[in-house]
Amino acid sequence: MSRLIAPSILSADFNRLGEDIEMLNQSEADFIHFDVMDGVFVPNISFGIPVIQHVNKIATIPLDVHLMIVNPDKFIEPFVNAGASILTVHYEACQHLHRTIQLIKSYGIKASVCLNPHTSVSVLQDIISELDMVLLMSVNPGFGGQEFIENTYKKVKQLKTLIAENNSDCLIEVDGGVNDKTGKLLFEAGADVLVAGSFVFNSDNPSDTISKLKLA
Ligand code: DX5
Ligand code: ZN
Repeated sequence: MSRLIAPSILSADFNRLGEDIEMLNQSEADFIHFDVMDGVFVPNISFGIPVIQHVNKIATIPLDVHLMIVNPDKFIEPFVNAGASILTVHYEACQHLHRTIQLIKSYGIKASVCLNPHTSVSVLQDIISELDMVLLMSVNPGFGGQEFIENTYKKVKQLKTLIAENNSDCLIEVDGGVNDKTGKLLFEAGADVLVAGSFVFNSDNPSDTISKLKLA
């Protein structure tokens, strides 16, 4: 099991984004997580390709791009060109998920699928061996700072079992309401990567918070 941290810049200070990225570069963060929202798949609009292009110029750690958008196939190449190292599409937004995963991997980057809180892990049983990562939403997507959904621990364990049954090295990432308490239990349940936005960026010392979360 890995113990990786992917701070979400959704909660960063966009008036000082360059400074926040430099802080992440120097911290123990493993990925930088981008919550891309289109206002259609989720009831919020966040940011898009220009932000990722500019961060990519100064980031020294991989860009983990979470697409909360409809028709993600249309945007795979632009996000790859913007600098994404990992691209996550929502199961609930894909008509032909296997084709979408093949498209992402054809660019030589990591392919990941996200499940909303209501979507069962079992929907991935016929594609799990193609995936580099599965992102489990532990809040309903669209906003940072929400309450953690407790059922997520059970889904992490179910997903861990599905990965083991398929001899896959697929990572488990969890996103939403992650803090030192939920983070500890998520690592214990088998999660590999924790996405944290408000817990990191609302803290007095984000870099220190990242280090402590890694040891949760
Ligand atoms: C929801 C977003 C959030 C964000 C993390 O659509 O994906 O989960 O990344 O939010 P926090 O860590 O503030 O709950
Ligand atoms: Zn996310």
